[in-house]
Amino acid sequence: MFDPYKVREDFPILGRKINGHNLIYFDNAATTQKPNKVIEGISYFYRELNANPLRSVHSLAQNATKAYNEAREKIAKFINAEPEEIIFVRNATEAINLVSFSLPFRKGDSVVTTYLEHHSNLLPWLRLKKNGINVKMVDIDENYELKMDDFEHLPRNTKLVTFTHASNVTGTITNAKKIIKLAHEARSLTLVDAAQSVPHMKVDVKELDCDFLAFSGHKMLGPLGIGVLYIKKDVQRQLSTFMEGGEMIQSVEINKIIYAEPPLLFEAGTQNIEGAYGLGLAVDYLNSIGMKNIERYEEKLTKYLYQKAKEINGIEILSGKSKQFGPILSFNIPGLHSHDVAFLLDKKGIEIRSGFHCAQPLIEDKLKANGAARASLYLYNTKEEIDAFTAELKEITKHLHG
Ligand SMILES: Cc1ncc(COP(=O)(O)O)c(C=O)c1O
Repeated sequence: MFDPYKVREDFPILGRKINGHNLIYFDNAATTQKPNKVIEGISYFYRELNANPLRSVHSLAQNATKAYNEAREKIAKFINAEPEEIIFVRNATEAINLVSFSLPFRKGDSVVTTYLEHHSNLLPWLRLKKNGINVKMVDIDENYELKMDDFEHLPRNTKLVTFTHASNVTGTITNAKKIIKLAHEARSLTLVDAAQSVPHMKVDVKELDCDFLAFSGHKMLGPLGIGVLYIKKDVQRQLSTFMEGGEMIQSVEINKIIYAEPPLLFEAGTQNIEGAYGLGLAVDYLNSIGMKNIERYEEKLTKYLYQKAKEINGIEILSGKSKQFGPILSFNIPGLHSHDVAFLLDKKGIEIRSGFHCAQPLIEDKLKANGAARASLYLYNTKEEIDAFTAELKEITKHLHG
């Protein structure tokens, strides 16, 4: 078992005061804080390594290329992929959009997505409707689980089944392996939105057998502006390129272009090398603690959070009903807008998210709510922080209901 109090010493921002109170950072599903190793690593990159990799032949550029390649190798290993299967992008949103623009969809094809999705895994597919692509929405049941029947009876011509591995609202961890198997039986490709799973659990793309997997570095201790699209080797040939330019070619003549092999094929232009390097360091940090340890600790902490939240009269919990769920508590206090709850907590230095969480169809149509307050945890959060948070919620509800 690792020691969360020791871990906290690695995150300078956690020592900050907000509005005169010790910061309690419970907005980890939006973005996570960064350890010294990442913060200092980025500075080191610019002080010691900075050059444009893959292009210039000088020593500095060779060092930058080495750093970029090593980051790719580390990240590949982290999700049990091959380095050539890791495409660096800006974030999970760009990863999903890359697939939506690059897979050759034909009029009459179907894409299957779900009501659990973040807008990032919804809008890229709804956009395709104007090209004559059918979009089927899989519903959720009363426990916020995806209705598996729908995956057993996929529409004819389903080209892609795409779904979240872990919901940023209900916390639901979906049965990805089973969905992927059913989709493959129907000869469909599969894309997993792993933005909320890769940071918190061991994700193995070979075990899942997915064709695409998307995640963001900033939600897993890495820098902003770097994300990953995993594309299974066998599937890479099916994609066209959606951006073209420098370093994704072998040779260019006006009438004859020879393209580079993936992953460079999908990485046109100068990339976020500092971001990739920083994400590699974040992965080193997570590995040094161990994803199993993180998962176990977060499970315990989440259980405690729910236990304390359930003791509060006057809050409605909108998450945590599924068989398995992540470290997320979404809730409302009837009579208060979720933004008001967030403002009141912020006055005490407690930072949570409120609103629609970029999942408006889920919150409005399925949870029948006008937004939600959300506390989301990570490895550096503690029981004491949960005590302070729930004590404050008790105060708020007491004042509201007299
Ligand atoms: C489940 C899920 N998918 C996708 C995203 C999009 O991530 P990003 O904004 O980093 O692209 C998020 C962000 O909150 C998310 O929670």
